[in-house]
Amino acid sequence: MTAHQVPMPMNGRDPANLRGDPITGDRYWSRDFARAEWEMLWTKIWHIAGRLSDIPDPGDFLVHDFMKESVIVVRQQDGSIRAFYNACGHRGMRLVRESSSVEAFVCPYHGWRWGKNGVLQYAQDPQDFPQGNPCGKLRLKELRCDAWGGFAWYTMDDAAPPLADYLDPIPALYRNYAMDTAVRVAWYRIELNANWKFVTDNFSESYHTRTAHPQVPPWIDQDVDSARHELWPKGHGRTVQPMRPSLTDRPAIGTNEVFAAILKAWDIDPDAYRSYEDFVIQGWRDLKAAKRRLWRERGYLHYEHLSDEEITDSLHTVIFPNVTISFLPDNLVFFRSEPHPDDAEKCFFDLWCMAFPVEGQEVVDSIMAGPRPLREAEACEHRVFDQGRGVPELTGQIVYQDMELAEGMQAGMHSRGYSDAHLAAQETRVRYFHEVLNDWLAGCRP
Ligand code: FES
Ligand SMILES: [Fe+2]
Repeated sequence: MTAHQVPMPMNGRDPANLRGDPITGDRYWSRDFARAEWEMLWTKIWHIAGRLSDIPDPGDFLVHDFMKESVIVVRQQDGSIRAFYNACGHRGMRLVRESSSVEAFVCPYHGWRWGKNGVLQYAQDPQDFPQGNPCGKLRLKELRCDAWGGFAWYTMDDAAPPLADYLDPIPALYRNYAMDTAVRVAWYRIELNANWKFVTDNFSESYHTRTAHPQVPPWIDQDVDSARHELWPKGHGRTVQPMRPSLTDRPAIGTNEVFAAILKAWDIDPDAYRSYEDFVIQGWRDLKAAKRRLWRERGYLHYEHLSDEEITDSLHTVIFPNVTISFLPDNLVFFRSEPHPDDAEKCFFDLWCMAFPVEGQEVVDSIMAGPRPLREAEACEHRVFDQGRGVPELTGQIVYQDMELAEGMQAGMHSRGYSDAHLAAQETRVRYFHEVLNDWLAGCRP
């Protein structure tokens, strides 16, 4: 098989793909369960340290703190990247607190200096070491790292499969996207009162959309039969939905301003259709044709390699276990949840809204954080959700609505009234996620 062939997915709407492992409440609050996740999952998977575009030059580095661990990914003189534990080889001091740029890492405790390549360059009183001068000999403990999708990845497991195997078939599926050109216009890390798995559960189904996100059906078709629910053996999965109004939640003719505006933006007259079905279905087809015709002159250069599906649809993709990327025609929306180091009932929720630059555009729809200037957000906004009070500017956004549900779900996981989920077929991927997680915890990674 060549790198560009993608094996047939399993049907993510078919519960025949499941064993039926129960999704019990203790998974969301038990310290023992969280400890098992640390030992059998987090120390063995590939993690995203950050974006490669944030470390363009030699000495630029990313710091990724994960629970009580911390890892540095640093750009080398030859342009490659290397990853090291963020712990000094002298007495273990944390070397750096946040991403930045250095000539060398100088430890704040006794001043040891480590090169970008992890080799010790300088130590005070080198002749005072009975073991011999450590300079040029000691090295920071290194981790494997690699790149995909414009992200720097690392793993703490020397025996982990290569990143491309771990991600399979995601790189092949998304080979058409110029992922490394996307600009992160909104950048948040939000502490949430919920276990990290709430986020993956939530992004593995669209069954909640009609209730939780009434603004979505006029824009992305939420009809269960319009979607493709895809599932892959390693636990990755996606929901592919047409970005056109749902026919089930049909408003009166002429009232869907959202889709009408999209059509108009591509020179299509939304009033020319004779019925609501025509407006939705033929309008969506006409939109594909118009984008095909006009992308270059309009500056949508990222469309060059995209398929007809990719220029008009939503490919909402979960990468096991904790990363979700919505591949939209003009945006990549990145979501990630990571466990809190001390409390299984909290997590950190990362929201990175990334937009593909279009010539002449100064403001973009970030999709999850409203309109934003088309430029890199300078720093990560660290917030506590606090029932929404911590992120007032996100009020009413889709992702805010999801976060509002988190605490209620977390509370429900403690109830003796809950013992397992009772799932719709279109929620098959929720249980599949837990079954793949159980496999990891049992020591058999798929
Ligand atoms: S702990 Fe880093 S120099 Fe001593
Ligand atoms: Fe949602």
